[in-house]
Amino acid sequence: MKTELLRGKDFITLQEWDREEIDTLLDVSFDLKRKFAMGIDTPYLEYKTAMLMFFEESTRTRNSMEAGLAQLGGHANFLDTSTMQVSHGEVAKDTATILSSYSHAIACRNCFWEIGNDYLRNMAENSSAPILNLQCDLYHPMQGLADLMTIQEKKGETKELNVSIIWSYATSHKKPISVPLTQALLFPRYSMNVTLAHPEGFELPDWVIEQAKENAEKNNGTFKVTDDMEEAYKEADIVIPKNWGSWVNHPDGGEDLLEANKDWKCTEEVMDLAADDVMYMHALPADRGNEVEDSVIDGPHSVVYGEAENRLHTAKAVMTVTMGGK
Ligand code: CP
Repeated sequence: MKTELLRGKDFITLQEWDREEIDTLLDVSFDLKRKFAMGIDTPYLEYKTAMLMFFEESTRTRNSMEAGLAQLGGHANFLDTSTMQVSHGEVAKDTATILSSYSHAIACRNCFWEIGNDYLRNMAENSSAPILNLQCDLYHPMQGLADLMTIQEKKGETKELNVSIIWSYATSHKKPISVPLTQALLFPRYSMNVTLAHPEGFELPDWVIEQAKENAEKNNGTFKVTDDMEEAYKEADIVIPKNWGSWVNHPDGGEDLLEANKDWKCTEEVMDLAADDVMYMHALPADRGNEVEDSVIDGPHSVVYGEAENRLHTAKAVMTVTMGGK
């Protein structure tokens, strides 16, 4: 693979990056992590600028991008879209054409259901710089890459790992489907045995399930769906219990569905069903007490802080590879 082909490449979904390209991102992430630990400067994007457009709140994504680009020698413009002309109806074409003429990438978070991904695609059609997805209604590739890095770091070989992506009850806010969707598509490509577990009403779209099964078949992984929470915990090497919304099938709410499934919580009791060295992951923010008991997220199986730290190293890798070069 010629790495210069990655310069200027949009990063909207990992599904559009082949295995070799993702491996390059991981390789660069590990290299940047080592150098960060050793205090070695990495000015790979000196004088380069990225526009960071946020339609929603963020702690990890915003700060890993801002800190990351500063550490690479560049500058990130944080843009709260409520203060931009997009809030008066300026269209994606005009915003993307103009912001890309000022910068070397436009990164954007837009999670509005059935709007976010279309907005990013519209920007990509009109931008002269790469579009980096900071989470949309469908995908969260920055999170997916950090999760994969964390799994490789902690478990080594990914082949035949039993990974369970498990819906959990939460009340904190309406969480998009983009994290479990990204994991469901990505992990089977690395030959993992993936179980997606959720109560009735929280299905991911049919095309996701078909794509995940196809990814598994092509890469010697497996992918299955269950509505049995305990089955998903049994003998799992990795559990990722997290809330997501029911709006795929219930665009008007689904509040009753949510309240009917309060028992879908990650507790010490269900963790005991998993492998002895099971790893607990969560993209964060977690709804403590609802999605997960404190004793699990703060306990010996949890890797959530390392997983969150890897958001920095992977964000830097994505920017270096897509914005870098001569
Ligand atoms: N995991 C994640 O994307 O966190 P933020 O919403 O804080 O960016």
